[in-house]
Amino acid sequence: MASVSTALQSVSEGRLKVDGTDPIYNDWRDDLVRDGFAVIKGAIPEDRALGYADKMLALAESFGLGYKRDDPSTVHPDKLPVINEKGMLLNYGAPHEDFVWDVRSEDGVVKAFEKVYNTEDLIVSFDAINYGFSNRTCMPANKPWPHQDQDPAKPGFRCLQGLVNLLPNGPNDGGLIVCKGGHLLSEQFHKDMINEERIPAWTPEWYGYTEAGMKWLEKAGLEWVKVEAAPGDLIVWDSRTPHYNVPASEKQDRLAIYTCFMPVADATQEDLIRKKDAFEKRLGTTHWPNARHVGSNVAKRNGSEDLVSRDRPLNEPKLSERAFKLTGIPYIKAN
Ligand SMILES: [Fe+2]
Repeated sequence: MASVSTALQSVSEGRLKVDGTDPIYNDWRDDLVRDGFAVIKGAIPEDRALGYADKMLALAESFGLGYKRDDPSTVHPDKLPVINEKGMLLNYGAPHEDFVWDVRSEDGVVKAFEKVYNTEDLIVSFDAINYGFSNRTCMPANKPWPHQDQDPAKPGFRCLQGLVNLLPNGPNDGGLIVCKGGHLLSEQFHKDMINEERIPAWTPEWYGYTEAGMKWLEKAGLEWVKVEAAPGDLIVWDSRTPHYNVPASEKQDRLAIYTCFMPVADATQEDLIRKKDAFEKRLGTTHWPNARHVGSNVAKRNGSEDLVSRDRPLNEPKLSERAFKLTGIPYIKAN
């Protein structure tokens, strides 16, 4: 506990503002404030990260559809549970597998978000896990979809997204690509682009960059950077930072678990009740931890309900006291 209080005492009052007025911390927070993203090296020890990668591949094998990690020819949609073109496994209770919860509640992960929000009272998203298979010639094409995950009508730093990288991830290995520094120009961008037609989105909390938008970023002198990470590194980014993911390379799988936390104080009681229901039914959410959108465990395969169904995880999570708080359930007030 001593390390928690020490870490928190070293943080100035309040949460990070990410607007150029934050103090200098001499750690990854300075990168986040300046660049809109940061890599927290070794948030999870490498051996544990590789262990989680093993479990993630075992999950893909557990559906019995034919995928085998040692046989590249089995990287095929027919032999895998439904994984979308961006690599996300959203259904089948996957967001609540034991190893996914273990990653979310790793000390080095939770503490990073505690530092940003300056509170231990946090909730975590029940977001997807991402399979970037190296031999994906048979998988649906993953076209660039540069975007930010925040409603332009609500500017300012609101949400820190994160992912834990589980395998070696070099410059050409696929994964997250970000427009460095784009977060700080976001407000100006939207003022300038107010008349630009919006790319349709299912939520106002998503903004896709059109060709003209991409040109604006380029003219502003911003560059796109493929984020590199080792097994166990946590990558965090401001939701305003333009980003997307690029397909894995030919030789190296890319496995990632999304971890996004927010102060429980930012969620309503209604949110927490909906989130509890999602937890109990083992349903996924988006990256927003307040569970505004809850998913389904039924996957759609070629437009129809997948014949493979699973409404509980393969391995049920065993939540520590810390992890259970992250569900938000202990913060629900009795009537
Ligand atoms: Fe995103």
